[in-house]
Parts: sequence; C-alpha cells; structure tokens
Amino acid sequence: MPAGINRQWVVASRPRGAVAETDFSYREAPLPTIGDGQFLVRTLFVSVDPGLRGWLTRSPEYLSQALDLYLDAYFVTRGQMRVPPEYSAPLHIGSVMCSQGLGQVVESHHPDYAVGDFVTGLLGWQDYCSSDGATRVPVSRFKRVHPLPRYLGVLGNSGMTAYFGMLDVARPREGETVLVSGAAGATGSIAAQIARIQRCRVIGIAGGPEKRRWLTEELGLDAAIDYKSENIDLRLTELCPDGVNVYFDNVGGRTLEIVLDHMATWGRIALCGTISAYDHGGTPAGPANLARLATSRIRMEGFLAPDYGPRYREARRQLSAWLATGSLKPCEHIHEGFENIPRAFLGLFQGTNIGKAMVKLTDVPIAR
Ligand SMILES: NC(=O)c1ccc[n+]([C@@H]2O[C@H](COP(=O)([O-])OP(=O)(O)OC[C@H]3O[C@@H](n4cnc5c(N)ncnc54)[C@H](OP(=O)(O)O)[C@@H]3O)[C@@H](O)[C@H]2O)c1
Repeated sequence: MPAGINRQWVVASRPRGAVAETDFSYREAPLPTIGDGQFLVRTLFVSVDPGLRGWLTRSPEYLSQALDLYLDAYFVTRGQMRVPPEYSAPLHIGSVMCSQGLGQVVESHHPDYAVGDFVTGLLGWQDYCSSDGATRVPVSRFKRVHPLPRYLGVLGNSGMTAYFGMLDVARPREGETVLVSGAAGATGSIAAQIARIQRCRVIGIAGGPEKRRWLTEELGLDAAIDYKSENIDLRLTELCPDGVNVYFDNVGGRTLEIVLDHMATWGRIALCGTISAYDHGGTPAGPANLARLATSRIRMEGFLAPDYGPRYREARRQLSAWLATGSLKPCEHIHEGFENIPRAFLGLFQGTNIGKAMVKLTDVPIAR
C-alpha cells in the first residue's frame, strides 16, 4: 500500500436482486488527520456479515435505528452515557461501506488510547479511520489474550448472537434435540457447539458435503444435513422421529417451513436471521404452516444480539472459558487482501465460508 493513502471501498449502486462486486467501487483518499482527543486506527481485519446487505438497500430510517441499536449496545457495554454519534450512516452512494472491523491505534492524541492498542468497532471497508473512542466511530478497546481474529468471531458479534440466541431465547435442556441451520457459518457453528456443551443432541443443516463432514467430524455434531443435495424433510423424518425440540434458525424461508412440520410439542424456535431472503429482489414468501405454532404449542421468538449489550461481558467470560477448555472450537475463514473485501462479502450468499468470514488487510500489527 502506498504511504499516506487510505484505500476505501465505497457504495457505488444499490443492488437490485443479488449483490454484485460492481455495487462497490475502489477509491483512494488521503489519511484522516487527528486533532486533540482523537486517534488514528489502522484496520487489520474487516468483518463481512450478511446483515450488511440491508445497509445497501434499506431506508434511512431503518439504518439509523440499526445504528442506534448498535451504539446503545456499545455504550451500555462500556457503562457510558449515550452520546449522539457524528457517524454518518453509510447508506449514501459514495459513502465508505460500513462494517465491523478490528484495528490498532497507530497515532494518538488521546490520553486513554496508546499507540499499539487494539480496538473493534464500525471501522468500515478502509485502511484507516480517526476516532475519539466514543462519539466519532465508537470503538471498544480490548487486551489481546486470544489470537486477533477471535475478537471478530467467537468473542465478537457472532459469539454474542449465538450465546444469547441459544441460551436465552431457545433455552435447550439436556437430552433435547437441537437443530441449527446455517450451521457451518459464523453464528451457527458457535450456536451448535453451545447446544452440544449443554449436552443436547445436535443436528446441523449446511450446504455441501465438505460442510456436512466438517460439522460431524470437526465440530462433533451428532448429524448433519446437506440441504443442497439432500431432502431436509426426509432426513428430519429419519433423524428426529420424536421431533425437534429447539430450532436455531439462520436462514428462514422454505427450510423454516419444513422444520416447522418436524417440531416437537412445546418446541422453541429462535429466529436469528433469514439469509435465504436477503439477496432476492422481491418479498420472500412466509411459511404457509404457521398454524403449527398453535397446534404444537411452539414458541417462535426473534431476537437481536445488541439488546443483550449489558450482558456481553458475561458472554465473553463464558465463551473464553469454553475456548480455554477446548469444549468450544473457534473457526475463522480468513480472506487475504483489501481488494478481496467485496468478493468475501458476496461469498456469504454463495456459502464460500466455513466459520466467521473476515478479510485480513495487513500482516504487520505493531508488537504489543
Ligand atoms: N439476530 C441477530 O442479532 C443476528 C446477528 C448476526 C447475524 N444474524 C443472522 O445470522 C445469520 C448468519 O449470519 P452469520 O454472520 O453467522 O453468517 P454466516 O452464517 O457465516 O454466513 C452466511 C451463510 O449462510 C448460508 N447461506 C447463504 N445463502 C443461503 C440460502 N439462500 N439458504 C440457506 N443458507 C444460505 C451459507 O452457508 P451454506 O453453505 O450452508 O449455504 C453462508 O456460509 C444471518 O441470517 C444473519 O443475518 C443475526
């Protein structure tokens, strides 16, 4: 990277239907300058997440609510008062694409942030941003104990989503059958392992034979279904003759409809996301069999991880403990190179990732 240049990917157009690489364009900007009380962050890893798809097409009102929710979680976590952000929601054409990232402070005029500190926050698809830690590109600082990618995966938003979605919303009990869709992805792979730690019988649904093998052989799930080559309905009939007690749903759509027919009485569905619908142009069809919720007394509940912001510390402590004992295996899918950020993002909708997808921008964090 040439010195003094801030590489950026900006929103070039709003996708109609499937997002394309041409919806982003590359730009070079000067490095941001920093004033008193500010510091300069160099991005080391960019996180790519399915939810970013909504940031490309959703209304400004929706985006500002989503940003508020994120910031509330951030401020509550840090025990600070909520301060209105100067951050401009990245919905405009020509704005730097928004996303979580992990970076390092490389220059500081802030008393609490030293050169070399590691931070996570909405750094965006760019090499550098300036921050004052709170109101302008808010960031959370962390002490590196685990390898850096873990702070975007198990110890980042994916871990928080899996932890609270599984333990607070789905609430599996020992011996129950738990089904997870998107099971080889960032959230799903952690959610499935948490259910296994709760001594449940765990079945994952994912696309392709490699992911099916990975789920049983590497993660130790009891069974896995390759939804691309197998009939989910038939496989659930074979695997779950007494029904599914808990369904952690990352995909929605037709899979949700099929699973509803296999839910056991008093079952629980944690609605985490509906990725099967994100990259479509039109309105996705809903399940036609919602009456099953009443006849089988099923609780289906959606949730958003940032609502649990005040309890993130608790989740990180427990997830770290599981990592330390080896009962939770981390998995990160690390793409290399700034130029590959849009491709890595598109890959989420094509299923190219196993575990948490992110892009490494540089090999050279400052030693700390
Ligand atoms: N509620 C919350 O607070 C919250 C927070 C974060 C994420 N989420 C949601 O959680 C879900 C997973 O997100 P993530 O960050 O963990 O991403 P991820 O699972 O790591 O990546 C997306 C995966 O989705 C699968 N997929 C893509 N298109 C699909 C389709 N049409 N049908 C079925 N599966 C499809 C792909 O795996 P296959 O190869 O198996 O198809 C892909 O690897 C998303 O729905 C996301 O919106 C919710």
